[in-house]
Amino acid sequence: MPHFTGKVALVTGAASGIGAATAALLREEGATVVGVDLAGDGTDVVKGDVTDPASVQAFVAEAVARHGRLDVVANVAGIIRFSHVEETTLADWQQHLAVNLTGPFLVSQAAIPHLAADRGRGSSGGAIVNVASIAGLKGQAYTAAYCASKGGLVLLTKSMAVELSARGIRVNCVCPGGVDTPLIGGVVSSIPPDATPALMARLDSLIPGLVAPAAIAEAIAYLASDAASMITGTALVIDGGTQS
Ligand code: NAI
Repeated sequence: MPHFTGKVALVTGAASGIGAATAALLREEGATVVGVDLAGDGTDVVKGDVTDPASVQAFVAEAVARHGRLDVVANVAGIIRFSHVEETTLADWQQHLAVNLTGPFLVSQAAIPHLAADRGRGSSGGAIVNVASIAGLKGQAYTAAYCASKGGLVLLTKSMAVELSARGIRVNCVCPGGVDTPLIGGVVSSIPPDATPALMARLDSLIPGLVAPAAIAEAIAYLASDAASMITGTALVIDGGTQS
């Protein structure tokens, strides 16, 4: 029996990488999925900007109006660029925080009243899963803005988990290491040419290679499912042992 039959899921960043894999898996598992992305095509993935409060209000309201309920929110949209901390522009800093931290805050805030609707204590409530990063758990060079945004997202997750527990809403995050998506391909060119190899080596995983987007999608789906009904406020690391 699929885990999400009859449920409605909202997935941001759904046009690419982890978001696309998550939307596909939740669909396979029976959910009606509303994908949202800056690069939305208006069919499978709606066009929306998680940094824009009006856009967020509109796509959450449209999802609820069209499908009548909301059970799962996966905040996946995110960006990363490398730069030396002293060369990181204010605009770059603000964009990392806007997409990676304010985005999940705005989307969760808009979704919470709908996630809570018509569910009492002890019943299967709504679930929010944020995609943070191991960069939200340990220092990583040349990514101060990214680390700050993802560290903030880990604690936003935990704060919402505490506050929303009495309403039956669970809030968790996943913390991937390197995942094989277009984001990784695009970011390599921003690594400073004079980057210190020993600092970059902190990103190496014990298990060689990158994590598959589908593996992160599986973790998101698990945390969003009733199988994880006793899990809230957790940060699940999927990184091939980079953290160890
Ligand atoms: P990706 O670049 O393949 O996909 C990210 C998607 O987010 C893109 O389709 C992009 O258009 C969308 N997006 C960006 N800004 C947006 C906005 N303002 N509003 C709506 N959509 C927006 O990247 P990937 O790898 O799938 O990343 C997904 C998440 O996973 C991100 O939060 C990223 O930080 C996180 N992550 C990725 C890792 C990796 O190695 N790929 C490692 C750890 C975390």
